Amino acid sequence: MGFLSDALSRIKPSATIVITQKARDLKAQGRDVISLSVGEPDFDTPDNIKEAAIAAIRRGETKYTPVSGIVPLREAIARKFKRENGLDYKPSQTIVSTGGKQVIYNALLATLNPGDEVIIPAPYWVSYPEMVGLCGGKPVFVDCTMEHNFKLQPEPLERAITPRTKWIILNSPSNPTGAAYTRAEMKAITDVLMRHPHVWVLTDDMYEHLTYGDFEFVTPAQVEPGLYERTLTMNGVSKAYAMTGWRIGYAAGPEMLIKAMDFVQGQQTSGASSIAQWAAVEALDGPQDHLPRFRQAFQERRDLVVSMLNQSKYLKCPMPEGAFYVYPSCAEAIGKTAPSGKVIATDEDFVSELLEAEGVAAVHGSAFGLGPNFRISYATSNVALEDACHRIQRFCGSLR
Ligand SMILES: Cc1ncc(COP(=O)(O)O)c(C=O)c1O
Repeated sequence: MGFLSDALSRIKPSATIVITQKARDLKAQGRDVISLSVGEPDFDTPDNIKEAAIAAIRRGETKYTPVSGIVPLREAIARKFKRENGLDYKPSQTIVSTGGKQVIYNALLATLNPGDEVIIPAPYWVSYPEMVGLCGGKPVFVDCTMEHNFKLQPEPLERAITPRTKWIILNSPSNPTGAAYTRAEMKAITDVLMRHPHVWVLTDDMYEHLTYGDFEFVTPAQVEPGLYERTLTMNGVSKAYAMTGWRIGYAAGPEMLIKAMDFVQGQQTSGASSIAQWAAVEALDGPQDHLPRFRQAFQERRDLVVSMLNQSKYLKCPMPEGAFYVYPSCAEAIGKTAPSGKVIATDEDFVSELLEAEGVAAVHGSAFGLGPNFRISYATSNVALEDACHRIQRFCGSLR
C-alpha cells in the first residue's frame, strides 16, 4: 500500500508556479531575468483597505468568523452584485472563501460525483482541470482558437454537452488570453445553455474590473436571467484591489448550493481570515478611485506589449479586451533553430529557449491547453516590459 493518495496522480503541478520558481532560481544564481509569468498586479493594496484591516485587528476582530463569512461582508457582496451586475442576491446566497480558487474548488467538491463532466473552454486557467480531476470529475475541453479570438463558439459548445455534463466553467476576461465576451457573444453562449437545463454555470469573473477602452463587462446570469437558478457567480478582491495575498474570494448563487459549499468549508478551513474579511468589506464598499488608475496603467502596458510583439519576427499577438495577459502565437517559430542549437519543436521549447537565451520568463500555451502560443503577464513596469519585448524580438531575430 503506497503512502501517497491516488488522487495525487490525477493532478499536475501548476506550470505558472513552476516557471516563476525557475525564474527565481536563475535570478538567485545572478542571471538577469525578467519574469512575465506571474499572475498578480504589481500595485500595492490601496491604503484605505490596509487601514480597515489594521482597525479590525485593533477592535479585536481576531476570532473565528461564521463559516460562510462575516455578515457585513456578505451584505457588501450582495450590494456589489446589485450595483455592478444588476443581480439580486440575499446575503444568505453568498459565501466567502480563502481566495477565488477555494470558491471554485468547494463548488466542485460539493457537487461532483465520479464521472461527472465539466466543460472547460481551452485555453483555460491551469487550475480548472486539476480541481475537476481532484474532485473526481472529468474535464471536457472545447478548443477556442485564435481565429475566434480564443472565445467559445455556440456550435462546439452544443456538441460537447452530454447527459453527464454537470457544469460549464466560463472565465471572462480570461486567464490566459485576456479575451472577454461582449454581451452578444455571451448571449450566444447562454442561448445554448438555456436549451440544456441540467447544465450549471460556474462563471469566474475574477478580472471583471480589468477591461480596457469602452468594453462593457457582462456576466452570464445578467445577460440571461433564465440561468440565475443554476449559476454560481464567482469573483474576488485579489486582482482588482491588488489583494492576492489577503486570500479573499466570494460567490453568489442558489441557496442550496451555497449551503453545500458552507458544509464543505466548515470541515476544511472553518472560513476565511477575519482580518482579511474586514479589509474586503472596505474594498467593496469603500472608494473605488484606484480602479481607473489600475486600468489606465494596464491598458498602456497592453498596447505597448501587443505592438512590440507584433513587430517581432515569427510572432502574432491578438489585442485582448481585458485581464493583464497576452497570448501570442509562436507557430511560425516552430521548426527554427535557437542560438543553443536546439530545434524548437513546441511552444514549451520556445519559452525554455527564450529563458535560456534572453532571461525572459513566459509560460507555454500547452500548459493552458492550446498552443503553439505563450502567455505573457504584463503586470509589471513599463520599463521591464519594454526591455523584455526587445529581448523577445532579439531572440526571434536570432532563430535560424
Ligand atoms: C481566472 C482566475 N480565477 C481565479 C483565480 C484565483 O484567485 P485567488 O487568488 O483569489 O484564489 C485566478 C488567479 O490567478 C485566476 O487567474
